[in-house]
Amino acid sequence: MAKGVNNSDASALVIFGVSGDLARRKVLPAIYHLFKDSLLHEKTIVVGTSRRELSVEDLLKQVELCVLENDNVCDPAVLQAMRERFTIVQLNPTKGSDYEALHAKLQEIEDTQGVCLNRLFYLSIPPGVYPAVVKHLGEHRLNGSCSHNRAQSRLLVEKPFGYDYASAKELIESTNRSFSEEQIFRIDHYLAKETVQNILAFRKHNAVFKSIWNAKNISRIDIAAFEKIGIEGRSEFYEQIGALRDLVQSHLLQLLALTTMDMPRDITSSQEIHKAKQALLEAVEPVPADEVRERTIRAQYRSYKNEVSNPTTTVETFAALEIAIASSVWKGTTIRLATGKGLSEKRTAITITFGQADDANHLTFRLQPNEGIDVELLVKKPGFAHALQAATMDFRYADTFMSSNHPDAYERVLVDAVRGDRTLFATAEEVLASWHILQPVLDEWSKYSDDLKTYEQGSTAESLLESS
Ligand SMILES: NC(=O)c1ccc[n+]([C@@H]2O[C@H](COP(=O)([O-])OP(=O)(O)OC[C@H]3O[C@@H](n4cnc5c(N)ncnc54)[C@H](OP(=O)(O)O)[C@@H]3O)[C@@H](O)[C@H]2O)c1
Repeated sequence: MAKGVNNSDASALVIFGVSGDLARRKVLPAIYHLFKDSLLHEKTIVVGTSRRELSVEDLLKQVELCVLENDNVCDPAVLQAMRERFTIVQLNPTKGSDYEALHAKLQEIEDTQGVCLNRLFYLSIPPGVYPAVVKHLGEHRLNGSCSHNRAQSRLLVEKPFGYDYASAKELIESTNRSFSEEQIFRIDHYLAKETVQNILAFRKHNAVFKSIWNAKNISRIDIAAFEKIGIEGRSEFYEQIGALRDLVQSHLLQLLALTTMDMPRDITSSQEIHKAKQALLEAVEPVPADEVRERTIRAQYRSYKNEVSNPTTTVETFAALEIAIASSVWKGTTIRLATGKGLSEKRTAITITFGQADDANHLTFRLQPNEGIDVELLVKKPGFAHALQAATMDFRYADTFMSSNHPDAYERVLVDAVRGDRTLFATAEEVLASWHILQPVLDEWSKYSDDLKTYEQGSTAESLLESS
């Protein structure tokens, strides 16, 4: 068995919606790389479910195309190894009786292999289908372990975790009827990115920053996730979601929590990290209803209405808001979260501004592109005059760790779920606290839309942020 893989990691990865966009682009290529690097237990089985008649060969073709597109090579030996460990169950996720076949298939696999497998159910299906799947898994005793009763059953869910506070609460409650909180792995793939995992390590182990990590020294925190691409044909999904729900509720508030939460004593303890994150999110002040206009920006790129064939849609493709944390450590720091599609650049970053105006220094965690961290310092320009210039000290993963092949976020998500490590997954309390922060904005935005700006695709985020 490969190094780091335990006997207890033998798993059946059941992927609902294996024919879909997320499975094709992210989940299956991640599984390919895990096979390639021998990071899965040798008895791992991947079970794809689909309503269609789909063959393992169809799936492997998709995997090959996607891997070729990104890596330029796709190893036939790895595809062969996958062929031997893949199977498909034809199933309509909303039809209870179809789960008999899934139950029987898992039982057959476990009996043939003579081993109890952890059963991981990855819901790579539209969110509207989740409740039915969770209910049917429970009814067919797939929330437990196999008949030998040793392994674990886990549920992996993709965002969105609800549509607002009330629906998130309802979703959590209905999921908890079939699965305990410990069995639920709410995926936030941002948390599995190396730079994001580095935030706590960086804060804890660099004395130069540790003592100045507070409002006295930090005047601003900007967390941004900008994309060049538009909604790329996902009209139905995006019309129900918009930028605020899609990115701010999940990824950006999680990044804020890691950046500003109290430092846990043990930064490898899942429990301590979640406790600190929850406390921070609960300390963020929801924007008061009468300040929503002033503290938020929403905008839509010009071709969006045509793209979704809805001339009256007010769904935002750009959202920004200013929030405050009610704690003595952060009182006075300006915090801005911003996200948008159809912009001039692809950039996800956390920028911390130390000091004010002319004497400010910036520390930036770059999630993409060029994963890394940079610090901007002011230096004297050579010459007789006393003129200053910003100089950047730049750390890039790609340069410093050239030889190490660090796992992609979805590989990390799968490996952690197999091992039962919930550190990088969002808890129910974190999800509810995030919706609580945004609820007044959602409520206000649903009442009017005269503040919705229009922008041309390719505009800079700054032009939208500054125009407010
Ligand atoms: N795509 C992304 O980049 C992305 C990113 C982050 C999160 N997510 C989340 O990940 C999940 C999957 O996303 P996706 O884009 O892959 O979804 P998708 O392509 O729309 O759907 C995935 C699969 O689900 C099945 N399905 C679709 N509608 C269904 C219905 N009404 N009833 C039963 N089965 C249905 C289909 O499989 P069959 O026809 O083969 O049965 C489909 O191929 C969603 O919750 C999404 O919000 C996606």
